[in-house]
Amino acid sequence: MALKKVELSYMEYGHLDELESEIKHLVLEAKDASKTAYAPYSLFKVGASVLLSNGSIVKGSNQENIAYPSGLCAERVVINSASSLFPNEKIVAIAVSSDHHFENAEDMFSPCGACRQVMAEAELRSGKKLKIIVNTPGGITRTFNGISQLLPFTFNYSGLKKAK
Ligand code: THU
Repeated sequence: MALKKVELSYMEYGHLDELESEIKHLVLEAKDASKTAYAPYSLFKVGASVLLSNGSIVKGSNQENIAYPSGLCAERVVINSASSLFPNEKIVAIAVSSDHHFENAEDMFSPCGACRQVMAEAELRSGKKLKIIVNTPGGITRTFNGISQLLPFTFNYSGLKKAK
């Protein structure tokens, strides 16, 4: 028997100006995209933007539905849009932002499990670590270098990749 531990790490920035300009721009695009959110049920507006290997940026936002589970988070909207619009480009980075005001300062904003899994697929397809940038409502920005920092023990079975 052995106790094993996993260590996760991320960078935290108090101000957008601390980010490299390309990443800061991506965060601003995500913030802008949050204006297009359709979130009449949760009132929680989220924007996301992805940077592709050809330099293009695709933006998206959460889209809710009166049948709640039919709604989709901003991250999955934007990754799936980018993949549809630019099927041959790799997703290099994704930024997510919400200006939602939390009553409780301890409430956190972070991509949900389903979106992390979709990010894992984007990373699998690109073959390089996906940069994940989360701009929290309090103005703090966290950057994660690769999906393993958000979703350790990702399902990855090479046998499935061979299936055509
Ligand atoms: N949401 C996102 O779009 N991204 C996240 O990272 C967290 C949650 C959306 C889903 C739903 O429309 C609303 O926020 C409340 O959960």
